[in-house]
Amino acid sequence: MLELCSVNKAYAEGRKVLTNLSYTLKAGEYVAIMGESGVGKSTLLNLIAGLDTPDSGEIRINGATISSLDDDAATRLRRQQFGFIFQAFHVLPHLTLSQNIALPLLLNGAPLDRVEQMLADVGLRDRGHHFPRQLSGGELQRVAIARALIHRPKLVLADEPTGNLDPDTAHEILQLMRTEIKANGATGIIVTHSHAAAATADMILNLTKDGLHPVASEGT
Ligand SMILES: Nc1ncnc2c1ncn2[C@@H]1O[C@H](COP(=O)(O)OP(=O)(O)OP(=O)(O)O)[C@@H](O)[C@H]1O
Ligand SMILES: [Mg+2]
Repeated sequence: MLELCSVNKAYAEGRKVLTNLSYTLKAGEYVAIMGESGVGKSTLLNLIAGLDTPDSGEIRINGATISSLDDDAATRLRRQQFGFIFQAFHVLPHLTLSQNIALPLLLNGAPLDRVEQMLADVGLRDRGHHFPRQLSGGELQRVAIARALIHRPKLVLADEPTGNLDPDTAHEILQLMRTEIKANGATGIIVTHSHAAAATADMILNLTKDGLHPVASEGT
């Protein structure tokens, strides 16, 4: 499903972030990526999402190299197949919560029937007509998660999706993410600093300067 082949990425002033990173994720795998702040986790998710391009190396999704797609094809792939939860939520301020969540369905011309259920699933029943400014940080984060899952994407990329939530709410939201990913046969990557959050994935990978390596499960 997702192949990282010798991916290199440096930012201006030559700071290398990712060096010869290779890894393959099978369809239906749900992994957590952990690692020190600044090691390049968000950079990696942005590259996989096609929001940024590697300096060298390839990222393939179902055999297609993202950076070689034209803009239209890349946009279509992202819109139909991806669900992305950013570290900063990117909820649109002038749309209501329902409209924010419905956006991927609208863009794909899909029926809007799941919006109310999804609002309820993230604990925001009856708040659909509210605007983002009327929400707390944790509530906004839940809107972003609902929006990322609503169109049943085949690849879910989540950057610290529960960083603003209390442990109980985080647990519920992580269970929702896992349920949706598994129900859709999707591939999922969650980036997190929380061991409890990471433990809800099938496997934990540690990102270091030396690459992505599985962390031995502690059986929790
Ligand atoms: N647009 C940018 N221009 C220059 N440097 C950047 C840019 N984005 C990130 N960096 C740098 O690249 C490195 C990796 O950043 P990244 O955001 O990927 O880290 P991270 O692993 O997600 O960290 P955190 O756990 O704090 O979210 C950091 O040193 C950061 O300062
Ligand atoms: Mg980050």
